[in-house]
Order: sequence, then structure tokens, then C-alpha cells
Amino acid sequence: MKQTLLEELHLSLTADVPFISPKFFYDDIGSHLFDVITLLEEYYPTRTEQSIMDTYRSAIAEAVGACDVLLDLGAGNCAKASQLFNSIKPKQYRALDISKEYLEAAVADLQKQFPHICMSAEAIDLSLPLAFPDIAERRKIFFFPGSSIGNYDPEKADQFFINIASECHGNGGLLIGVDLVKDHETLNLAYNDPLGVTAAFNLNILLHVNRIMGSNFNLQDWEHYAFFNEAQSRIEMHLRARSDVEVRLSSEGTKEHVIQFKAGDLIHTENSYKYTQDGFTEKIRRAGFDNIHTWTDPKKHFLVCFANAKK
Ligand SMILES: C[S@@+](CC[C@H](N)C(=O)[O-])C[C@H]1O[C@@H](n2cnc3c(N)ncnc32)[C@H](O)[C@@H]1O
Repeated sequence: MKQTLLEELHLSLTADVPFISPKFFYDDIGSHLFDVITLLEEYYPTRTEQSIMDTYRSAIAEAVGACDVLLDLGAGNCAKASQLFNSIKPKQYRALDISKEYLEAAVADLQKQFPHICMSAEAIDLSLPLAFPDIAERRKIFFFPGSSIGNYDPEKADQFFINIASECHGNGGLLIGVDLVKDHETLNLAYNDPLGVTAAFNLNILLHVNRIMGSNFNLQDWEHYAFFNEAQSRIEMHLRARSDVEVRLSSEGTKEHVIQFKAGDLIHTENSYKYTQDGFTEKIRRAGFDNIHTWTDPKKHFLVCFANAKK
């Protein structure tokens, strides 16, 4: 049975360790807040990934080869893909994201700038299995930048890569940006910017949940809490109750349910796994990719990688 977003949220918030999937960050406000995060001095991933793509533009295009269809997974504002159009020259561009209105506006803008590329905006949930039977025969390049893969637990990431490798049907590959393990100060600061934009992004998830569920989370009751968990090699983001809080989860057609949180209790909202270069390339090799090319920045903070799906 297909689970609705409402059911999914209900289960995750009433779990022994309450959590909200990070996909709920991205309503219209969340997508805009993420764009602001990418401008922050402390948030190194976006500008570092872009600098790698700029420096190695021709090498990346050569490794990628022909591109019938560029599938941009979690496209957001589509800015990174658009920077590749002149070098990779896709015949078709398919932007996929859960944040529907935001994505549609971004693709409409892009289509005006690149009228010769056939474009579509598709609202889908990438956490579900992906299938593209209509383009099975064509050479597909899956583009997954921004270290979005960091949000997947390691086993889920393995399944995702196996799914993508299989959807290439022996004719395509994966161009991906991955955040690397680095000093803890840099990592912690990137998710605790002094301006508080990441905190606002994290708190906004509760407003989105309220809209979906009809729940009554009050932002004043919660604070942003993020840290690097070295043992798990991941940044964890949580919302922490500032005091004892009672939250009513309710919506039409579902039974009213009240959850009690004690001061200091956490709701886990995001993991962002950090990889080593070798660990990551081994992971995609195991999933069904070979001929792996890697590019990084001088500080080795971020990795851009292209790999062909095995034939
Ligand atoms: C970290 S941002 C990266 C955005 C952009 N690709 C970049 O590199 O700047 C993650 C993007 O993935 C989208 N996203 C998150 N979870 C998703 C899901 N389950 N299904 C589809 N899109 C999702 C978000 O809306 C957002 O645009």
C-alpha cells in the first residue's frame, strides 16, 4: 500500500526516536532558505563544488561523453545543471525535485535561456525507487550534485546507486558531488552559521509539517541543534525542545494524537554523511559503476565524480 505523506509523518513523529525526513525541509520557503545557505561564507560545499566544476569543465565533459538526456536529481534552482549545458550539450534536460512550484519556476526561467534544449520539470520523491522506461534506449547522465547523497544512510545510498546503475541500461553514467570528511570546526560551522539561516531552515520544517498534518508545533518551543558525529561520519541536525512541550498531531480523517516532549528532547531532521574519496569510489564500484573519474579542490573538501554504469 502506498503510504501518504501524512501517514509517513505520523509514524516518524511517534517513533521511539522521533524524526522527520529531510525531504520535508523543501517547501517553497525551505527551497529559498537553502539558496541563501549556499551563499553563506561558512557553507563551503556549494562554492567548492562549483569551483571544481569550473576548473575541470572540459575534463568532465570529456569523461561524460554524449548526453541524450540529463536527469537532474534534486535539481533545486537548476543552477548547477545550467552551468553544464554548454560543455555537456544535453539534447534533453529533465529536472526532478520534490519542491514542485519552486522547480517549475526555475525550469521555466531556464527554458527561456536555452530554447533549443527540450526541458521538463517533474515533481517526484527520490526516496522511492526510480524508473525511466521511456528513455531506456537513450544515453542518460544522472546528475546528483550538492552532496544530496549525504542525506541517505549508507545502505539506502547503496540501493540508490544500484537503482541508478540499472536505470542506465548499460548506456549512461552518474555525475555526482560528494562532501568529504574534514576538520570538525569547518564541518560544525557550516551547519551552525552565525546568521542563523540554517537554524531557520531547520525550524521551517515544523511549519511545513503543520501545514501537512494540521499539527500545532510552535517554533518558539524548539531550537536548532547540529553537530558532527565522528563515529558515524555525519553531521546530524535536530530540533531540541526548549521546555516541556505538548504537540497535537491531527488532521482531518486521522485520530487525534498528542505527543509529550521533555525539555531537551530531540527530533532528528537530517543526517549529512561525509565520505572519504576512496570509500566513496569503492561504494559506487560495488553498486555497478566503473571507469570512475574524480576531481577535487586543493583543500580536498569536496569531490566531483563521474562513473559509467557497467555494460
Ligand atoms: C541539498 S539541496 C541541492 C540542490 C541542488 N541540486 C544543488 O546542488 O544546489 C537538495 C535538493 O533535493 C531536493 N530533495 C530533497 N529530498 C528530496 C526527495 N526525497 N525527492 C526529490 N527531491 C528531493 C530538495 O528540494 C532540494 O532541491
